[in-house]
Amino acid sequence: MEAPKTVVILTRHDKDWASASDVLLEVYAYRVILVSSAKEALKTMTSIQVDLVVTDDDRFTTDGLDFLTEMRVSHPDIVRVYVASHSEGLSSKALSNAAIYQFLLKPINEIQLGLVVERALETRELARRHRLLSREFKISGDTLDFNERKSTIFRPESQRFEKLVHVSEQMVEVCDLARQAAPTDLPILIQGETGTGKELLVRAIHYNSLRRASPLMVQNCGGMSDEILQSELFGHKRGAFTGAISDRLGLFRAADGGTVFLDEISEVSPSFQVSLLRFLQEGEVKPLGSDKVLHCNVRIVAASNRPLKGLVARGLFRQDLYFRLKGFELEVPPLRERPNDIAPLTEFFAAKHADAMGKKILGISANVLEKLNNGDFPGNVRELENEIRRMVALAKDGEYLTTRDMSAALLAAAPRIRPEQGRGFLPEGVTLKDQVESLEKQIVSLALKRHRWNQSRTAGELGLSRVGLANKIKRYALDESSG
Ligand SMILES: Nc1ncnc2c1ncn2[C@@H]1O[C@H](COP(=O)(O)OP(=O)(O)OP(=O)(O)O)[C@@H](O)[C@H]1O
Ligand SMILES: [Mg+2]
Repeated sequence: MEAPKTVVILTRHDKDWASASDVLLEVYAYRVILVSSAKEALKTMTSIQVDLVVTDDDRFTTDGLDFLTEMRVSHPDIVRVYVASHSEGLSSKALSNAAIYQFLLKPINEIQLGLVVERALETRELARRHRLLSREFKISGDTLDFNERKSTIFRPESQRFEKLVHVSEQMVEVCDLARQAAPTDLPILIQGETGTGKELLVRAIHYNSLRRASPLMVQNCGGMSDEILQSELFGHKRGAFTGAISDRLGLFRAADGGTVFLDEISEVSPSFQVSLLRFLQEGEVKPLGSDKVLHCNVRIVAASNRPLKGLVARGLFRQDLYFRLKGFELEVPPLRERPNDIAPLTEFFAAKHADAMGKKILGISANVLEKLNNGDFPGNVRELENEIRRMVALAKDGEYLTTRDMSAALLAAAPRIRPEQGRGFLPEGVTLKDQVESLEKQIVSLALKRHRWNQSRTAGELGLSRVGLANKIKRYALDESSG
């Protein structure tokens, strides 16, 4: 059972507190300790865990408030509540210096005091959880202080960019570019199918940028009327349209100094594209219904799961806006094109969900990994995570994840023919030499394509020297434009 919360009341007026301390004790089951000097209060605070301190003053003293002000530095984690005898002469500066949770006036109303103490402790607990969560959210390898993560069954070779788990060359490249782009102020355009991890990448970029201490605000642009989007992003004045019952700041200004993530950017109307373009060019914000032009400094990251280039070609997206948005362009490949990421992601999700469900999973059977490797994953990483979460939920505590717990669709997936696994190549020619050479040509050509013609990477993968690779390129007359 949780230990009772301890409330220390520092007062020289014991009898003012008789019924209030009864209520704290009887109704709320707090431990209440009455002390009459700062020295005694400090002694209590060093010998036991104190959760909240209440002090009071009479008309002629400020000792109680002074003590809270000192506590702010010496014991910042203890919540402070102040009871004054009078509001005259009480300066808001002095109150704000003490950073108290609440101040009350005498005579003490025990019901009010009980509620204030209860809320104060709840708020502190929420703030603590919020701190933990946001730290978890922002963690990067070196600030990791959560034991649970250390227990995950990571492959040694798997890498992290903030929360993005990956090993594939393609993702290493994407993350490298994102790391380089992060500290600049240029807009970034992230494209990729649904569930590939675009939002995770945006967060990683924000937390690796100089804007990390300012907000990251997310706006989904899909399925929004221009008016709503306009008011969400640029804000509005009260009465600017029906339903605008108060002023709205707008996301761009709310995120001032930070990053705004515009998701599903392909969905905005042509007229809204013009507003965005203007904002990107001038950094100017004009709230709806206002004629004041305001400035704000935000970095835009936009994402789309429909390739914008194609939309531009079809006249559905403004080319000038497209060029503006792609200060850097990142393409997150679909999971089926980076099968190497399936195993480390599976292990990561299994550990994550086992932790969350309080289960122990010994590992993942080879059959499961093989089946997952065959999956097509139109929903990409999100779909893989859903599958693993379900499997962990079904698995027995202390066992392996096996195909018994897999969903029927994935179980039925036919073995995929992966050119890079050496299957699916069709030899050409009749003689053994011709057939072997034709296979070699296909393998080298595919590897080059996979590495976007980066010859040292290709040579590395194929176990060739750079000269060896160059010779093969020449022998088979391979070139970049032939695909
Ligand atoms: N590399 C990764 N490592 C760990 N988790 C990942 C990775 N990629 C994606 N995820 C997880 O998969 C889910 C989908 O990712 P995310 O929301 O970032 O995708 P998205 O590309 O923004 O999708 P959509 O286009 O549908 O909005 C999230 O739960 C995310 O945490
Ligand atoms: Mg998304």
